[in-house]
Amino acid sequence: MVQVLKGNIVQAPALGELQITEQGYLVMEDGVIRGVYDRLPLEYATAPLVDYGQALVMQSFADMHLHAPQYPMLGMGMDLPLLEWLDTYTFPTEARFADTDYARRIYRRLATDLITNGTTRVCMFSSLHTDATWILMEELERAGVTGYVGKVNMDRNGLPGVLQETTEESIRETLRWLEGCHFDHVKPILTPRFTPSCTDELMAALGRLAQEKGLYVQSHLSENLGEIQWVKELHPDCQQYWETYDKYGLWKERTIMAHCVHSDRRECDAMRRAGVVVAHCAGSNINLCSGVSPVREMLQQGIWVTLGSDIAGGACLPMYKVATMSIRASKIKRIETDWSEDFLTVPEAYYLATSSGHRYFGDRDGFAPGNRLHAIVVDDSDFTEASHPLTVRERFERAIYMLHRHNITAVWSDGRCVVGQMLQ
Ligand code: GUN
Ligand code: FE
Repeated sequence: MVQVLKGNIVQAPALGELQITEQGYLVMEDGVIRGVYDRLPLEYATAPLVDYGQALVMQSFADMHLHAPQYPMLGMGMDLPLLEWLDTYTFPTEARFADTDYARRIYRRLATDLITNGTTRVCMFSSLHTDATWILMEELERAGVTGYVGKVNMDRNGLPGVLQETTEESIRETLRWLEGCHFDHVKPILTPRFTPSCTDELMAALGRLAQEKGLYVQSHLSENLGEIQWVKELHPDCQQYWETYDKYGLWKERTIMAHCVHSDRRECDAMRRAGVVVAHCAGSNINLCSGVSPVREMLQQGIWVTLGSDIAGGACLPMYKVATMSIRASKIKRIETDWSEDFLTVPEAYYLATSSGHRYFGDRDGFAPGNRLHAIVVDDSDFTEASHPLTVRERFERAIYMLHRHNITAVWSDGRCVVGQMLQ
């Protein structure tokens, strides 16, 4: 079925580029974008049309790194650096997800909060619990959130008896979990927590599994100096952190590595060569005093950078807030580097929060023909009424900084309207 959406269409067709079609027409067929037009082509004149009036029709967001079982500790306990923060707050919080009723309650809320904030695609960590991970996938599916979820693997340095698997258990449960993943829009991704959490034997097994089943991988890299030092001690044979993943076949095309705050030129070169994707989590990196990632430099080197909320190291679930946090962090980097490094512009941050993430799922940049529609409709009338009239570009910029959930009046995910009325 052909459908037409009308409004002020804002898309990011390339890094730093913004394409605005005022009072434009977005045409799709069976949820797949045909094109964006200034004038409606005659052939679509009789197709059902949804007129969003003066609202902005923007790309929806992709959150490429977050921890679902840390949602209950959102905005709390950020007075410790990473390794102490994990032991003190994070692991005990994740341990509660052995309780499936609790998991259902929290994950239903998380899925609703994601979709109503305009995040339609995710790459997400669950906990080590298989049943709770299925529940998470079900709840995302039900809410209209799509993407990848990983059952976490951790067989050392967790909380023994509370949040840690044996090696054998971890492998067995991962296989059981994979067998039970029958969801239309939410797919499994292998998730070794990070090198200190996984024995060599487990890493090797996961590397083989990734290869055999053609699965993608997500993990953490070079977030914190203490962590990097620990990894050196655990793997004296590896010159750098990334090599501990490479050794076991986990450093490969489309492996998502969260943070990469302290990745130097050599580690960045290894990312580019392998086609590894960075999930930059600016808010979390500041909350946990991890550092400020050289994200502008990475982009210049041609590294694929996406954004993540890193809930609950990050305290902001909405990706428009994560985008502006990334801009601020890049400005801190600029100040730190004696103004030699550029900061991220609003169109660049928007691209990273949208197109760059959506590309992971096979899309081309912006509202490209052939993409399934992932979009939000933003009614910004409550903060545009005052003073002088604003251009659509100005309204867009202000929306990125000032949006609230209530301004998002409709959400389209995978070609379906999952939030808001299908007004005809
Ligand atoms: N490294 C290993 N586990 C975690 C986690 O849960 N959050 C963050 N930010 N870093 C990690
Ligand atoms: Fe993380």
